[in-house]
Amino acid sequence: MNGFTYTELDIDKLYETLTMIRDVFMEFEAPDYSEEGIEEFLCFLEPDEIMEKLENKELRIWVCEYDDKISGAIAASEDHINLLFVAAEHHRKGIARRLLEIMKENYNPVKITVNSSPYALEAYRRLGFKETDTEQEIKGIRYTPMVWYSKGIIMKVTKNDIRKAIAETGLSGELVCIHSSLSSFGEVEGGADTVIDAFLEEGCTILAPSFSYFYSLPRVEIIEQNDNDYDDEPFESNGKIYNTGINEIAPDMGAIPRTMLLRAGRSRGYHPTNSFVAIGPEAEKLVSCQTPEEVYAPFQKLMDLNGKIVMIGVGLTKMTAIHYAEKLSGRNLFINWALDKNGNTIRIREGSCSDGFDKLDSAVEKLEKQTTVGNSLWRIFPIKETVEACAEAIKKDPSITYCGKPNCGRCNDMQKGGPVL
Ligand SMILES: CC(C)(COP(=O)(O)OP(=O)(O)OC[C@H]1O[C@@H](n2cnc3c(N)ncnc32)[C@H](O)[C@@H]1OP(=O)(O)O)[C@@H](O)C(=O)NCCC(=O)NCCS
Repeated sequence: MNGFTYTELDIDKLYETLTMIRDVFMEFEAPDYSEEGIEEFLCFLEPDEIMEKLENKELRIWVCEYDDKISGAIAASEDHINLLFVAAEHHRKGIARRLLEIMKENYNPVKITVNSSPYALEAYRRLGFKETDTEQEIKGIRYTPMVWYSKGIIMKVTKNDIRKAIAETGLSGELVCIHSSLSSFGEVEGGADTVIDAFLEEGCTILAPSFSYFYSLPRVEIIEQNDNDYDDEPFESNGKIYNTGINEIAPDMGAIPRTMLLRAGRSRGYHPTNSFVAIGPEAEKLVSCQTPEEVYAPFQKLMDLNGKIVMIGVGLTKMTAIHYAEKLSGRNLFINWALDKNGNTIRIREGSCSDGFDKLDSAVEKLEKQTTVGNSLWRIFPIKETVEACAEAIKKDPSITYCGKPNCGRCNDMQKGGPVL
């Protein structure tokens, strides 16, 4: 027993509950709202109106109590959360998660919607919700519509659904770099091929990372600030020679790039470990500029051609173009080694640790457009402005890319500017 009890609200405690909600609102949400928004929200908390909704069973409230004091509350109708508030001193103790479970146990909904405050966005994401639109503002109240689907609900997605999303977000005919999780959709009829076809039929050229780390050689020489996860001692070559015709790809790259590689007419860049694959009218133009030294040349080309980045059910930690932003901010990219076409050992360039890239969210949020396809949240960015905004943010605060693990040699060295040459 941890001292917290969860019950449906006893009407005698309505006033105390609304006072807790009001206090939490003033501390965590009001700073993001205009005067009008604050007033509008406080009106919503009028006890008489809430009481009426409770009596009509339009609304139910469950609360968490600690030491006989209300410390959290969820107010919900069948499949919508109206209010979810936890007293400041009890944040991050799992109270919101438990209150949400109680709502689910009582209503058994197949989906739940919520209009998240700016403050609660990340918490709702952690609770399994996804944005269904960008931030809205009505009467001074800022919110992002979000949805949660019960695990049993698998959204079926067709090629037409994907084409519609491409057309509606203005991506038709564009050059797009995609980073994708196929499973984020739910179930796509026809799998990865359907996603690729949808983009091609909308006239797009698609570019995706098709990395093949296993073509790298163990460390060949020691270079200061080049802690790219190498062992301490130099090794012999493992003898594998990369060429652009191979279809090998690291398993963590996902089903879509893997399937792109198998398509006739695809183009693959020349970089033994960090190649890109492209399909569509401008495919060759995008990847033919890639070299072992100029690993991110396809991004510069995409920037010159005003292309877009589409994050399909994945976050900024998967946005490879941020490594290019690191380079543009003045960092040296890490050095690794591989065999060239003739079997000679050469230096190649690679990105660093990307686990901290979510922190660049605030630098790019104004550039972002969103849509949902099935269960998959698509985040769409203009590449040029996005890479430039990230480069600027990294210049201003080099620790912004830090992943948070004190022993991350890659982050530590990259923050200092990367290898000393
Ligand atoms: C949003 C709020 C209800 C979360 O309550 P909570 O009891 O602290 O949440 P929990 O402890 O159950 O955490 C649930 C998940 O969200 C994460 N989380 C909670 N607060 C977070 C925050 N401020 N930032 C990022 N993640 C957060 C938790 O880490 C947890 O994820 P995990 O299990 O993967 O670690 C609480 O912060 C709050 O009352 N905020 C102010 C009011 C508000 O904005 N309400 C939403 C109105 S729509």
